[in-house]
Amino acid sequence: MASFSVYASIKFLSLCAMICGVSGLGANWGTQASHPLPPETVVNLLRDNGFQKAKLFDADYGTLRALGKSGIEVMVGIPNDMLASLASSMKTAEKWVSQNVSQHIRKNNVNIRYVAVGNEPFLETYNGSFLRTTFPALRNVQAALIKAGLSNQVKVTVPLNADVYESASGVPSGGDFRADIHDLMLAIVKFLSDNGGPFTVNIYPFISLYIDSNFPVEYAFFDGNSSPINDGGATYYNMFDANHDTLVRALQKNGYGNLPIIIGEIGWPTDGDRNANNEYARRFNQGFMSHISGGKGTPMRPGPIDAYLFSLIDEDAKSVDPGNFERHWGIFTYDGRPKYQLNLGTTNSGSLVPARSVHYLQKKWCVMKPSARLDDPQVAPSVSYACGLADCTSLGYGTSCGNLDARGNISYAFNSYYQKNNQLDTACKFPNLSMITKADPSVGSCIFQITMEPYYGGAERRIGSLRLVVGLFLFVLIIL
Ligand SMILES: *[C@@H]1O[C@H](CO)[C@@H](O)[C@H](O)[C@H]1NC(C)=O
Ligand SMILES: *[C@@H]1O[C@H](CO)[C@@H](O)[C@H](O)[C@H]1NC(C)=O
Ligand SMILES: *[C@@H]1O[C@H](CO)[C@@H](O)[C@H](O)[C@H]1NC(C)=O
Ligand SMILES: *[C@@H]1O[C@H](CO)[C@@H](O)[C@H](O)[C@H]1NC(C)=O
Repeated sequence: MASFSVYASIKFLSLCAMICGVSGLGANWGTQASHPLPPETVVNLLRDNGFQKAKLFDADYGTLRALGKSGIEVMVGIPNDMLASLASSMKTAEKWVSQNVSQHIRKNNVNIRYVAVGNEPFLETYNGSFLRTTFPALRNVQAALIKAGLSNQVKVTVPLNADVYESASGVPSGGDFRADIHDLMLAIVKFLSDNGGPFTVNIYPFISLYIDSNFPVEYAFFDGNSSPINDGGATYYNMFDANHDTLVRALQKNGYGNLPIIIGEIGWPTDGDRNANNEYARRFNQGFMSHISGGKGTPMRPGPIDAYLFSLIDEDAKSVDPGNFERHWGIFTYDGRPKYQLNLGTTNSGSLVPARSVHYLQKKWCVMKPSARLDDPQVAPSVSYACGLADCTSLGYGTSCGNLDARGNISYAFNSYYQKNNQLDTACKFPNLSMITKADPSVGSCIFQITMEPYYGGAERRIGSLRLVVGLFLFVLIIL
C-alpha cells in the first residue's frame, strides 16, 4: 500500500509535469572550478536528476558539445566583458552567433533555446560599467540570430539582478524599475516583448538576509511562520512571491504585464556564512520545489514558474567579493555528491542522484606537523599563502569548519592548497610546518577534501583513444 501510494504520487508528479504545463526544471551550470567534472559527467548528472534545462554563463565548446543530443534545453551565456565588443560591431555579433549558436545547433545537435546577453550587468556594484553596452549588444545578437535564420528557435534575454526594480511603498503594488535606469529598462523590456524574449530575473532571499541582519529569517523560506504581508487584497507569505510580483507590477505599470518571466537563478548556499548551511539550503530549495510544483504561481501571476536552480555544483574558483558563500551554491559538491536530501519530483527515488564514475586521487592529506609550534613565525605567511591560492571559505564564524582549533585551521589551509595542486609533494612543503598523512583529519561537518583526478578536456580523450589504438594493435599482433 505504502509503495503503491509512493508510486502513485510519482506518477502524479510526472503527470502534473505534463498537465500543469511545467516546462521542466532548470539548473545553472557554472564552470569556475579548479577541478571541474568532465562535461559528459555533468550532462549525465543533469539527466539522472531529471533536469530538462541548463543555463550556462558562457559558450564553452566542450560543455556545449556534451549537451548535444541530450535533448536538454540550453541557455548559452555571453559574459559581461564581451558586451562592449558585441555592442560596437555587428560583425562580432554575427561571428559569436555563428560559432557559439549556429554551429552547435547544426553540427552538434545542441538544443539551444536562449542566449543570455550579459549576466546581471546592471548590478550597482558594477558602477554602471555595462549600462551603455548591454542594450546595443542585445540588439546586435538578435539581429545576428535573425540573419542566421534562428530567431524563431532561439530567443534573447538578459539575466538581471532583482535590484533593477524596487518598490517605493515596500509592497509589490508599488513596483517599478529603478529610477536611474528606468528608460533603459523600458527600452529593453519593449525589445524583449517585440522579439518574443522573456524577462530573466535572479531572486535571492539569502542575499537579503546576508546584507540585512534585521531581515525576518522566516520570510526568506516558503514554510516560514512570518506574519503575512497584505497588499491590497493579495497576501504574501514569502519573499520570493513578493519580489516576483514587484517585477510583475513594474511590468504592468509600464504596459508589459504579459511579458514571460524566467527565474534565472534561485537557491541557497551551504557554507561560508552563518546562514549558509545544508539545513537552510534544503529547507529553501525543497520549499521552492513544493511551491512551484502545483503550478499555482504567485498572487499576481498564477500558473507555472519557469526556473533554473542556482546552482548545480560548487565552484571553488569563483571570486569571493560577494562573500565567502559564493563558492558554495551547489545542490551537489564540486565532485557531484548530493549535499542533502532534496526531492525535485523528477527521480524515482525522490532523492538526488550522485555523479557517476568520479575518480579521486589517493586518500592522503596535508596537515600541520604535531611538532610544529603555533608561534612559529612561518605559520601566518604560510596560511595566508595557502588560503590565497586555494580555498579557505569553509573556515570562519558559523561555517562547516568554524569549530576547528588553531592547529585545525592551519591544517585545513595546508590541505586545501595541497589538494588544489593535485597532491603534489612540493605543495605540502610549508617550512618545517607540514606533513602528509593517511589519517583523515575531517571532524564532524568539517570535511578535509581529497581532490578528483584532474580533467584535461580533450587531452584525456585523446590518451584514451591512443590506448585503444595500441590495444587493438597488440590484439591484432597476437591473433596473427
Ligand atoms: C564563443 O564563446 C566563447 C566562450 O564564451 C568565447 O571565448 C568565444 O570568443 C566566442 N566566439 C566568438 C567568435 O565570439
Ligand atoms: C565601483 O566604485 C567603487 C567606489 O568608487 C570602487 O571601490 C569599486 O572598485 C568600483 N567597482 C567597479 C567594478 O568598478
Ligand atoms: C580559525 O580560522 C578562522 C578563519 O580564519 C578564524 O575566524 C578563527 O578564529 C580561527 N580559529 C582559531 C582557534 O584560531
Ligand atoms: C627547520 O627546523 C630546523 C631544525 O629545527 C632549523 O634548523 C631550520 O632552520 C628550519 N627551517 C626553516 C625553513 O625554518
